[in-house]
Amino acid sequence: MTDRTATLTFSDGTGPVTFPLLTGNIGPDVIDIRTLYTKTGKFTYDPGFLSTAACSSAITYIDGDKGELLYRGYPIEELAVKCDYLEVCYLLLYGELPTAKQKEDFVDVVTHHTMVNEQMQFFMRGFRRDAHPMAVLTGMVGALSAFYPDSINVHDARQRDISAHRLIAKMPTLVAMAYKYSVGQPYMYPRNDLSYTGNFMRMMFATPCEDYKVKDVLVRALDRIFILHADHEQNASTSTVRLCASSGTNPFAAIAAGVACLWGPAHGGANEAALNMLYDIQKEGGVAKIGDFIAKAKDKNSNVRLMGFGHRVYKNYDPRAKLMRETCYEVLDELGLGDDPLFKLAMALEKIALEDDYFVSRKLYPNVDFYSGIVQKAIGIPVSLFTAIFAVARTVGWIAQLNEMVSDPEYKIGRPRQLFTGSTRRSVPPLEKR
Ligand code: SDX
Repeated sequence: MTDRTATLTFSDGTGPVTFPLLTGNIGPDVIDIRTLYTKTGKFTYDPGFLSTAACSSAITYIDGDKGELLYRGYPIEELAVKCDYLEVCYLLLYGELPTAKQKEDFVDVVTHHTMVNEQMQFFMRGFRRDAHPMAVLTGMVGALSAFYPDSINVHDARQRDISAHRLIAKMPTLVAMAYKYSVGQPYMYPRNDLSYTGNFMRMMFATPCEDYKVKDVLVRALDRIFILHADHEQNASTSTVRLCASSGTNPFAAIAAGVACLWGPAHGGANEAALNMLYDIQKEGGVAKIGDFIAKAKDKNSNVRLMGFGHRVYKNYDPRAKLMRETCYEVLDELGLGDDPLFKLAMALEKIALEDDYFVSRKLYPNVDFYSGIVQKAIGIPVSLFTAIFAVARTVGWIAQLNEMVSDPEYKIGRPRQLFTGSTRRSVPPLEKR
């Protein structure tokens, strides 16, 4: 309990009300208003949750002003260089970096869950070949609850752990299957002698007709994309997963809800939208047309936004964008694409936006999505699959946040209230009188 408090006074004469002020280990204090309605008959009002802490969490910390991102206390800059994605998965799920033995065991269990039930191929066949990969993934992840009914009890810690391993292991397989289905190529089964990310690259780009050699620099770049996107505090899709799981539904269904939310262009769909934006500018005339495009992005009536710019929390530089930008240069150099016109266009757009007062005054800097799309394009991943790649990476964050919530004995089903602005009570007139 705390003796630090916040007191609310009302101009309508009702007495002041005092609430505890809670302090985290780092970050803003919170006013504990859980008794507000019972004490005052009033709600708070915060659509978009600009000033609302929906939960307490020990997983990921973001400081938007400092441009800081910590997973379980470790800076993203160190994790991206010193760890691989499965080590980061272990850290997010269990709170500590794995020892060599723990890592070996974790990699082994994930590796041996990468295949999906053979029947899922027939579920996939129900989709049109040109279905968007996120439509397929939303359906396939939800369907996992039907294929793996022995690990759907969200209140059983052992079943939560098994479903976590299954989800982390099978997401790459499902995404690669969605890609192969869209291009009419046979599925490639996972291989247990490859790394997590190397396995994914092979399932995506190999064919049964010849051996496929994974390129280490590309595997490393994609592994870094996975690390940078693994978790991000209470973003829209994570909040969706928490709210969905709070009803007691199974982990597969809750993660499918997260996939659906991530699809949106204001969220995980921004990397696909950013690349399509660059293609549009290129079609219109390239660098010479950037000014026209930026003018549209500044015009409220245009409904055009600079995709890959801005962030609800980062009002400085997105630390992931900095790392992604470095990876961009590494991959394009390695592939001899340094003069890639799209990358040059992206750099020109970034430079102009960073000098334009509209963006500077609103603290709209490039976010991780601005660069991750260019790297994925260089790796050979189709634009329509970018958000599905984001979903592969974010699955571990969603699961860690879900587990943290359901492991809290005090957690309740999420049920927000509202400010009602509709019709007050009225009677139904007979049809002839309407
Ligand atoms: C992700 O939450 C997370 O952590 C998300 C994420 C994660 O890892 O989970 O980091 C991943 O989703 C990154 C964000 C990807 N989205 C985009 O790149 C889409 C483009 N960006 C935006 O739509 C926007 O910046 C948001 C949605 C990211 C943030 O929006 P906010 O915080 O609600 O800000 P806002 O929409 O209220 O905008 C503030 C002002 C407005 O202008 P004014 O009304 O003040 O005059 O900035 C303008 C906006 O019009 N603005 C933009 C802009 N983003 C904001 N104008 C042009 N281009 C943009 N990109």
